[in-house]
Amino acid sequence: MSAATLQSLDINALLGRFDPAAGTIEGARRTERRLSDLAGIFLDQAAYRAARADGDPLVYSVEVVEPGTGDGDLHYGLGVIHPGRVGREYFMTKGHLHSWREAAELYIGLSGKGVMLLEDEATGESRMLPLGPGCAVYVPGHTGHRTANVGETPLSYIGIYPARAGHDYGVYASRNFRCAIIDEGGAPKLMRRNS
Ligand SMILES: [Fe+2]
Repeated sequence: MSAATLQSLDINALLGRFDPAAGTIEGARRTERRLSDLAGIFLDQAAYRAARADGDPLVYSVEVVEPGTGDGDLHYGLGVIHPGRVGREYFMTKGHLHSWREAAELYIGLSGKGVMLLEDEATGESRMLPLGPGCAVYVPGHTGHRTANVGETPLSYIGIYPARAGHDYGVYASRNFRCAIIDEGGAPKLMRRNS
């Protein structure tokens, strides 16, 4: 793996100019997820089918900067989740573990109102933490993490993680998170998925 050095990087890799409203970082790689990319992750499948019959809205985007691939390097991404619901669940990310399980991640809220769902891989313990302006969430290693927009405006945030972290979507693609975040009386609530 090649480590990034001051000499090896040009100014575009050293200076990240970003637009939290547009969800863009100059020169970054962009990934978009539409509602059709999120089949199977919502509790209310009838509500999902009804929402899909109405169209295929953009649920979230992530733009990622990857200056180097050495063990000591960092990668970071700017995420934007749009407001929306499927049944009582909020628009949310697929969620993942890191392929290198020890890798932690720091999320920093920029705008909007969000929450993060954290799930301990070994014990299954689940926690819901707020994410928004003035609020950062530390995701330890061995912890599945998913982000949801629980407000009425776009939620934007930056996530910073080790370059070698990698993204493992497989666990939650096959069994989903143990808990869902649902709207109860206008506020997000953590609920066991099988209850
Ligand atoms: Fe992550």
